Amino acid sequence: MYVLGIETSCDETSASVVENGRQILSCQTSSSIKFHKKYGGIVPEIASRMQLETITMVSDSAIKEAKIRLKDIGLISVTNEPGLLGSLLVGISFAKAVSFGADIPLLGINHLHSHIYAAFLQHLNNKHISLPFIALIVSGGHTSLFYVRDFDKISILGSTLDDACGEAFDKVAKIMGLDYPGGPYIEKLAKDGNPKKIKFPCSDTDAHLNFSFSGIKTAVLYYVNKSMVHSPQSIDKRKNYGLLTMDYGLLCDIAASFQEAVINTLIKKSLLACKTKKINQLIVGGGVAANNRLREKLSEAGKTNNIQVFFPAKEFCMDNAAMVAGLGYRLFKKNRLYCKKS
Ligand code: KG4
Ligand code: ZN
Repeated sequence: MYVLGIETSCDETSASVVENGRQILSCQTSSSIKFHKKYGGIVPEIASRMQLETITMVSDSAIKEAKIRLKDIGLISVTNEPGLLGSLLVGISFAKAVSFGADIPLLGINHLHSHIYAAFLQHLNNKHISLPFIALIVSGGHTSLFYVRDFDKISILGSTLDDACGEAFDKVAKIMGLDYPGGPYIEKLAKDGNPKKIKFPCSDTDAHLNFSFSGIKTAVLYYVNKSMVHSPQSIDKRKNYGLLTMDYGLLCDIAASFQEAVINTLIKKSLLACKTKKINQLIVGGGVAANNRLREKLSEAGKTNNIQVFFPAKEFCMDNAAMVAGLGYRLFKKNRLYCKKS
């Protein structure tokens, strides 16, 4: 069965055709990120206006690339929560119109649940994943641990009490004078830095499976303010990243130390969730799951603790419609119909 997925929960407009929940025939994604950069974060009004302009084109080209016709599609699967309201409205309205016009069933999909599903898409080792498992979703808007008994039986074990993990990367990047979104820039700088140089606290929470990232962000802010110098050094390297008047080596150490503290917290809580639930499979998803250091360290920690860790292919960590189409297929097969044309 061919499923058309539509994803417009944040700044991306994405459409994808997936066959039988796994085989990605196409995935077209248009991002409005360059229009948000100068504001240092997503401006919802800009995002939804761009989505309105691009959704028809993106969906048409996804269907064309999949070499199928609209009438071949057996289900339209659309992100319906959580996300930016205006952006969701564009995707849902478009999906409803196509569903009504072409007489195709329609299913609404939870964005976080679709991030969990990303690891099941065309993934070499996903054949080994069996239910139940623990899922860690780390994105720009969310940081949550889930207990997944099945794709329609997902319960939350813990989540962030303040900033999301990706949001912390973005805010720290801004403090360091880096571009938006900050995660990839921090990761790049961190490669040249010493992760043990600075002890940034990544605060613990009363409930063991919750997260808190606002404290570490403030700690980085104080450290950066304290470390600013007035004689520019290492200008050549720094100009690629930002205009902070700070030694390039120190900038790298801050990035590496921040990243390490965050990753250690993610590892600690994920392993704790697995132990608490007596589960030895962990799936990771969301934009931060593209981080190489997290992928390496968590996989390593998994091996030591006898827990299998699965990541989606990097391109499916970020928001995309393939994961929405894939999860749609799985839920449709379980008769979870959200809205069907009469
Ligand atoms: O899942 P996503 O595309 O959007 C949301 O649903 O929020 O995640 C975007 C987030 C941004 O905060 C971005 O900085 C972060 O993922 N991110 C990373 C990396 N790549 C993207 N964070 C750390 N390391 C990366 N390599
Ligand atoms: Zn997302």
